[in-house]
Amino acid sequence: MEQAASALQRAARSLVAKKKRRDAGVLSPFVPTDEQTIAQAAALMHLTCKDTILDLGSGDGRVLIRLAQSTGCRGIGIEIDPVLVGKSAGQSELVRIVHGSILDETLLEQTLREATVVWIYLLPEAIAQLVPLLKAHGLSPSHRIISCAFKLEGLGLESQVPCHSCPHLQLYQYKMQ
Ligand SMILES: C[S@@+](CC[C@H](N)C(=O)[O-])C[C@H]1O[C@@H](n2cnc3c(N)ncnc32)[C@H](O)[C@@H]1O
Repeated sequence: MEQAASALQRAARSLVAKKKRRDAGVLSPFVPTDEQTIAQAAALMHLTCKDTILDLGSGDGRVLIRLAQSTGCRGIGIEIDPVLVGKSAGQSELVRIVHGSILDETLLEQTLREATVVWIYLLPEAIAQLVPLLKAHGLSPSHRIISCAFKLEGLGLESQVPCHSCPHLQLYQYKMQ
């Protein structure tokens, strides 16, 4: 009985948390990509100093900052949480983080114009909303697209490889269909 009650409390807490996130326009919670996966992604994407990587939901900016440090590429992030935007500020002159939503069509158009590579680490519900917007607002065959952990429906899968740090997770590479 006690066990069932605590399970119910957990479910209720999770529902409240989900509702709060939805109300604030938050489509995925912050879960940072680990260092090993960032290094693996850099190799997979063949990143060089000529690239600009766009991180949609950039969290504390670690993916962009590490990749800028290791490859010399530029980075642009879009992040909805102002606290996380603040954490990434001023850490690399090659990285720019915009406080806003990945569902903002104007922002997507502007940032996709600058980007050569798109990095996505979001929940499937967020991906389902985002992919049609990306396709409608500037995603082109010239972009290399990589998604951590979840598939992007509606784009052409080129390859998938297990993350070295967590082999049951995959890194998926895509192109525009
Ligand atoms: C799973 S984390 C990934 C963080 C980072 N990209 C990484 O790989 O370390 C997802 C991020 O998306 C952000 N996010 C959620 N909804 C968003 C929205 N509507 N617009 C912009 N960012 C959003 C969250 O605040 C969180 O930082």
